[in-house]
Amino acid sequence: MRRKVIAGNWKMNNDLSGSISLISAIKNGLSEKGTDNLVIIAPPYTSLETACALIKDTEIKLSAQNMHFEESGAFTGEISAGMLKSAGCEYVILGHSERRTIFSETDEIINKKLKKALSSELLPIFCIGETLEERESGKTNSIVERQISSGLDGISESDFNKIIIAYEPVWAIGTGKTATPDQAQEVHKFIRNLIEKIYSKNSAEKCIILYGGSVKPDNSAELLSQNDIDGALVGGACLKSYSFLEIIYSV
Ligand code: 13P
Repeated sequence: MRRKVIAGNWKMNNDLSGSISLISAIKNGLSEKGTDNLVIIAPPYTSLETACALIKDTEIKLSAQNMHFEESGAFTGEISAGMLKSAGCEYVILGHSERRTIFSETDEIINKKLKKALSSELLPIFCIGETLEERESGKTNSIVERQISSGLDGISESDFNKIIIAYEPVWAIGTGKTATPDQAQEVHKFIRNLIEKIYSKNSAEKCIILYGGSVKPDNSAELLSQNDIDGALVGGACLKSYSFLEIIYSV
């Protein structure tokens, strides 16, 4: 039985005081009932160290939203895996569609980042997903297959087992258009079959595959009840403690 994972990607939202308020409210909500789900938050870089101190002694885990693949050097404005580790991160989101489209990250760059995260003992949340145009021209599976096989190129099975995959159809991100539970399940099943082909049935069965794209309290229960959907990577709805908590408690 795979554990359900609810991760909140804050994107470029919340300064330090906003982060403290949001984390405190999430902590309060969770301390009342507890949860068996794995809860991960990904605040902006500037709040990571404070977030780490605030979630100490709770079940909440800390993620960054991105990192560079080099350890150090002349990369103005970038952050390394070692820096994220020292700020208290356990996870890092890599390959988010906003990184791919706005910041021109290629499958090759994402592959380097995945390898660097793994060798630095950060657990990657590896994002993939097709655009609307790709879906409408029937290319969803081929795009997802390319992103997965290029992203995982040269990554051993034991390292792969540390990766969480997040399927986020680009057309559903921030648009209010959620994939239907059937649409999402179909792609998640396809991804799991792909993992079986690349690695093994055992790794495919163990692999946690999150869905992301306009996940809200009113659609999370149905999405997360699908066989191959193991949780959610939440954007907009994770910025309010009540909606993030509702999603956590909907499974
Ligand atoms: P929204 O939930 O705002 O659609 O964002 C999803 C996302 O991109 C999470 O990484």
